[in-house]
Amino acid sequence: MDKNLAPFPIIETNRLILRKIKVSDVNNVFQYLSDKEVMKYYGLAPFETVEDVLSEIAWYQTILDNSTGIRWGITLKGKDEVIGSCGFLNMVSEHYRTEIGYELNRSYWGKGIANEALQAVVSYGFKYFNLQRIEALIEPPNISSRKLVEKQGFIREGLLRNYEFAGGKFDDIYMYALLKQDFDAL
Ligand SMILES: CC(C)(COP(=O)(O)OP(=O)(O)OC[C@H]1O[C@@H](n2cnc3c(N)ncnc32)[C@H](O)[C@@H]1OP(=O)(O)O)[C@@H](O)C(=O)NCCC(=O)NCCS
Repeated sequence: MDKNLAPFPIIETNRLILRKIKVSDVNNVFQYLSDKEVMKYYGLAPFETVEDVLSEIAWYQTILDNSTGIRWGITLKGKDEVIGSCGFLNMVSEHYRTEIGYELNRSYWGKGIANEALQAVVSYGFKYFNLQRIEALIEPPNISSRKLVEKQGFIREGLLRNYEFAGGKFDDIYMYALLKQDFDAL
């Protein structure tokens, strides 16, 4: 990943603008990160305070500065409200791989918005970050997330047993991945 990713890349799709998340977006981000339905399979408890969200926004900047990831805020064209986010994390450039993450405010589920955002971000990742492999780690009962990545061509490679400790218990996680050659052939 280019260490000097400036200015922050803005991605435009049919209905969306994907842009940097700013401190002034904190209340909109709080809306979805404090929603227990959104956070159900996230591996983190629902956020309780605005300070928690400010730390999350600071983390987006840290991963960008360290070249280990990038997070875009999802907005609808013509509206500035951040209704979700998506991007890369745990990027390991020497292995040409990264993980993808995403979430959407519940009021916007079921409209194909995550699908549109993910398609753009995956395509951007393969084009500009020199990636060979994009991984998605998903809890088995998170059906909408599984369907979302399957629609993008991700292949389920296996079950990572007791991979995460969240909410006082160990969770199994499906490892999905999309390889560059598979993406190019889509
Ligand atoms: C994952 C997420 C971004 C998907 O949002 P979305 O774009 O609104 O996706 P949809 O609600 O349209 O669901 C995607 C697909 O799953 C299907 N689906 C949703 N819930 C389902 C269920 N309980 N059973 C079967 N299918 C289901 C939808 O019908 C849709 O399939 P289709 O496009 O073939 O009709 C959203 O659900 C979310 O923010 N979840 C919480 C955060 C999260 O879990 N992130 C991922 C961590 S791995």
